Formats: sequence, structure tokens, C-alpha cells
Amino acid sequence: MIFWGKKKYQYIDTKGYFKQSEIYKNLAGITPILSRHDRNAILEIGAYEGVGTCYLCDNFLMNPESFLTTVDPFLIDDAGTAMHGMVERNFLRNVSNVKFLDKLTYVKDKSANFFAGNQKTYNFIYVDGSHHPNDLMLDLKESIKVLEKNGILWIDDYGSNYSVNSVSPKDVVDEFYKSECDSLTRIHSGYQVAFKKL
Ligand SMILES: C[S@@+](CC[C@H](N)C(=O)[O-])C[C@H]1O[C@@H](n2cnc3c(N)ncnc32)[C@H](O)[C@@H]1O
Repeated sequence: MIFWGKKKYQYIDTKGYFKQSEIYKNLAGITPILSRHDRNAILEIGAYEGVGTCYLCDNFLMNPESFLTTVDPFLIDDAGTAMHGMVERNFLRNVSNVKFLDKLTYVKDKSANFFAGNQKTYNFIYVDGSHHPNDLMLDLKESIKVLEKNGILWIDDYGSNYSVNSVSPKDVVDEFYKSECDSLTRIHSGYQVAFKKL
């Protein structure tokens, strides 16, 4: 269990995906790549129990113009993530306790459908959704279209050994970066990887 939020509410965190992540270590650090007070337009693909969603809402939405959209279909047959019926219930319970609930939009759908209807741009996008190579490539290509100049694209599972037909997340991200290297600079590389849009 971890303590965040306005009233020391205990967010349910059964897997610890976010707490162990490099993005959390960066955002919780003294000089995080995202400012707490500036306008932040945040997009999260893949919410799971919403632990990352809650942390981002509680800490990076204080500017009146800031907002966060999170997208997850909560399909229990998802390959690559331990999905079950309680995940969405835990997500809904967790996010109902965030500090800036009015600035949070939750889209219960696959990211491909979300992107097809999305009209907004973002300065921070966290891609942590489907691990399937085709889905990941779509998430990356769609994200770059709606990422603002100087915006950050942070991607989970770059170092994961999950693969489909021998194609790993690293293979997908490296191919994406090769095609976008004129418009992106790499700012982090580890189990996760991150780029800034030039
Ligand atoms: C590793 S979890 C996300 C963890 C979360 N970002 C955190 O930090 O706690 C991956 C999530 O991606 C979701 N997902 C799977 N396919 C997706 C898709 N096509 N579009 C959006 N989300 C998807 C799964 O339902 C699952 O909840």
C-alpha cells in the first residue's frame, strides 16, 4: 500500500507496477522532467489499478489549465498483463479519491479507438498499454502526432522480454525512433525509455 492524495487514502496497489517504475523515480525526484505548477496536458495509455493515474493527478494537475486523460479497455483476456475482474473496480475506487478529480477523464476503450476520436494535444504521454507489437507501434505513431513541442513521450517495458513472433517492445520502439529521429531526442533509456519532441 502507498500513501498519496488529499486524505492519506490508501490506494490499492496489488502489483506495484508504477511504484517500481523509472517514471515514478523520475517524477518523485527533486528535479522531475515534468513541472508541478505549469500547465500539464497528460495522456496515459494503460491505467491498470490507476496508481500512476492517481500519482499524476495528485501531483501534477495543480495548474488550473492542467488535465489528465487515461485510456484502458480493462479486457480481462489482455496478454502480457495480469488482468482480472477486480482491476477495473480497484481503478474506479482509487481514482475516486484523487485530489483533482474534475480534471481527470477516463476513457474505457482501446487506445486505437481513443486516438481515432481524440482532438487534444499533450505535453506528457505515458505509453503503458498493450504489449502487442502492432498496438504498441500504433500507440507510438499516434502519440507523436498529438505530442506538443518540448513534450515528453515516456514508454514502459522497453526492456521487457515479452515478444510476439519474436518482436519485442524494444524492436518496436527502436524502429519507431529510427523513423522519427529528426523530431525526437532520447532523454532516458533503461527498462523504460523516453523521448522529448524537438
Ligand atoms: C502495465 S498495465 C498499466 C499500469 C499503469 N500505467 C500503472 O502505472 O500503474 C497495462 C494496462 O494496459 C491496458 N491495455 C491493454 N491493451 C490496451 C489497449 N489496446 N489500449 C489501452 N490500454 C490497454 C491493460 O488493460 C492494463 O491495464
